[in-house]
Amino acid sequence: MEVLSCSTKDTKELAGTIAKKLKKGDTLALYGELGSGKTTFVRYLVEALGICSRVQSPTFVLHRKYGFINHLDLYRLKSVVEAKNLGIEDILRDKDFVTIIEWPKLIEELFSDRTICINFEHIGENERKITIHNFN
Ligand SMILES: Nc1ncnc2c1ncn2[C@@H]1O[C@H](COP(=O)(O)OP(=O)(O)O)[C@@H](O)[C@H]1O
Ligand SMILES: [Mg+2]
Repeated sequence: MEVLSCSTKDTKELAGTIAKKLKKGDTLALYGELGSGKTTFVRYLVEALGICSRVQSPTFVLHRKYGFINHLDLYRLKSVVEAKNLGIEDILRDKDFVTIIEWPKLIEELFSDRTICINFEHIGENERKITIHNFN
């Protein structure tokens, strides 16, 4: 599925659509350059799921939790070994959480075939092309 988001409002609407179908145990991998809208999407998704938490980029913390959401930002990660040492495999296996991962490239080998991949592409100041794979 491919969506052209022309404003944060469109991204919010998309997050709402996806939130309706998410189940605990699901993993979302969010790809895209800095400023492409990954964290903004997470913020709307968390809101749509009825969780009242302030979503910040976890770049320095790597991992935050809001209700039943795991939010990881692996921008600073050096290797898959480092991710394993941080317990990433247990996080991915946890059926009580929806896990959302920004900058997931390094740990792709740990994903199951059910991982939902979303790519964010910067098109213009307020335009983002959002492509969703493996979401039925
Ligand atoms: N259509 C859009 N969808 C999402 N974010 C948008 C859109 N248009 C503009 N933006 C802005 O782009 C920025 C995206 O930042 P952020 O979500 O932190 O990106 P990332 O996490 O990918 O680095 C925010 O300031 C947001 O308001
Ligand atoms: Mg971010």
